[in-house]
Amino acid sequence: MLSKKMLDALNNQVKNEMFSWHLYHSMALHFEAMNFKGFAAWMKAQAAEEMGHANKFVDFIIERGGRVVLPALEKPQTEWSSHLAAFQDAVKHEQFITAEINKLVDLAHAENDHPAHYFLGWFVSEQVEEEASVGEVAQKLEMIGASSHAIFMFDAVLGKRGQ
Ligand code: FEO
Repeated sequence: MLSKKMLDALNNQVKNEMFSWHLYHSMALHFEAMNFKGFAAWMKAQAAEEMGHANKFVDFIIERGGRVVLPALEKPQTEWSSHLAAFQDAVKHEQFITAEINKLVDLAHAENDHPAHYFLGWFVSEQVEEEASVGEVAQKLEMIGASSHAIFMFDAVLGKRGQ
């Protein structure tokens, strides 16, 4: 049985993961509007992963006998000044999510909730991967700079994600 504190915190993480989906979907639509199909496909795949994360939390709450309360989501940003600006925001967002996961781990420890602690271990590793993958794209965009030729080439590379 989940404590009230743990239940509320897990429901809050459902909201965080759903907002991640919302934000990355918005970035995908931004790239789509500019006809950068590869960037859009990469972000759509990222958004789909986030809904997967939200559902993992949903399933865990249900398995532990808790009630999932779906949240209202904030309107995400809809435009970015550059490809790099979007990915820099994605990096910042993943750092925020990592901090949220770490807080959940601390709470599971404080509440002596071993199943939650074990469950959250997957997310601790996942966040290392999440920060690395958006960070890698941001770093490459920094190297590319303003070269539109390189951006078009990179668009083709990113479009291969999930193929
Ligand atoms: Fe679900 Fe990208 O963290």
